[in-house]
Amino acid sequence: MRVLVTGGAGFIGSHTVDALLSEGHEVRVLDALLPPVHRTRSFPQDLLDRGVEWVDGDVRDKEAWERALPDVDAVVHLAAYQDYLPDFSTFFTTNAVSTALLYEVLLERGQRLDRVVVASSQAVYGEGAYRCPHCPDQGVVRPRPRREADLVNGSWDPPCPRCLQPLVPDWTDESAVSPHNAYALSKHAQETAALTLGERCAIPSVALRYSIVQGSRQSFHNAYSGILRIFAQRVLHGRAPVCYEDGHQLRDYVSVHDVVRANLLALHDDRAIGQVYNVGGARQVGILDYARLVIKAAGADLEPEVPGVYRFGDTRHVFSRTDRIAGLGWRPEVPLQDVIEEYLSWASAQPDLTDITPQADARMHTLGTLRRTGR
Ligand SMILES: NC(=O)c1ccc[n+]([C@@H]2O[C@H](COP(=O)([O-])OP(=O)(O)OC[C@H]3O[C@@H](n4cnc5c(N)ncnc54)[C@H](O)[C@@H]3O)[C@@H](O)[C@H]2O)c1
Repeated sequence: MRVLVTGGAGFIGSHTVDALLSEGHEVRVLDALLPPVHRTRSFPQDLLDRGVEWVDGDVRDKEAWERALPDVDAVVHLAAYQDYLPDFSTFFTTNAVSTALLYEVLLERGQRLDRVVVASSQAVYGEGAYRCPHCPDQGVVRPRPRREADLVNGSWDPPCPRCLQPLVPDWTDESAVSPHNAYALSKHAQETAALTLGERCAIPSVALRYSIVQGSRQSFHNAYSGILRIFAQRVLHGRAPVCYEDGHQLRDYVSVHDVVRANLLALHDDRAIGQVYNVGGARQVGILDYARLVIKAAGADLEPEVPGVYRFGDTRHVFSRTDRIAGLGWRPEVPLQDVIEEYLSWASAQPDLTDITPQADARMHTLGTLRRTGR
């Protein structure tokens, strides 16, 4: 089949393109090669050499979709705006409006597709699922965003809304969402648009909610995203990784190779049509523990720093339950240790490996994203 991959020059996109080519598909990429991910406007030569067709266009422009869609059988929509910065409208135009445009153009062209797969995110859950050990009759609790007054006092864990004791985090399934920031809202709008408009236009569509994706080719230049990128940049320059809050936030991490397998499964398996699936690492890891794993894998003699800063709008704990996609036969296969080692070896071979943490932190501080505790 001929597959259009938006954002195919990016991190997950380029790995997805590789896998599609290996399966013998024809691939077209719609990508505007935007900063901060791309420093130059040159599409990877090796992909062109392998027959990938590049459409230079912006997914926010209808005309770009009109140029990219003819003759394709399926779309994997990965182009997105991701850093948690306060230019709220950019998240909606890039992530949600682009998805509406995709179905609008398909309808206007009378074009049927075998499949659309959209990349959503664990971010749609906001705070993950929790339980209160003192009020078990409440069942799952999904806390609201944490209050600035608590964060500035270093009071990190969301309290039970009933008894105000700390909640205990639990695995988060797909059943409810609570997006807390512009990125998450736009991703929820994107997946809702895909599944609803897909059904209306008879275009079989699937939404995948990735957890934190890790692997080679993740841009060094985002301000916010990519814990492994951020820690590796520090450690490979002999500097200690910096953990926000108290470093005990829990997350799950998934290898880009496992995510690519999920993308292909969603493209091919008819049981996935109209569904949304978590794609996660099935192991919860604290941020401080993660920093120590990176230090150990790099063979460095460092201790993570916890300087008492936090990113306003961050989630305290979230880790995704993957039972649903396991029902289709998918499980994460790459262990975290391997992911970290693979990334460190790739990153240390890159000519543009610089530690951008000071500039990124300064930018987030100026924009009010990064804040300091009062104690
Ligand atoms: N990386 C993660 O940890 C993660 C986690 C959850 C969900 N996701 C989702 O997965 C998808 C891929 O993420 P990634 O990390 O590979 O991103 P990336 O930033 O590495 O790549 C995105 C690509 O999209 C292109 N792009 C961005 N805006 C565009 C626009 N307006 N028009 C055309 N092209 C544009 C960029 O040039 C880039 O090549 C995104 O939808 C993201 O929201 C990623």
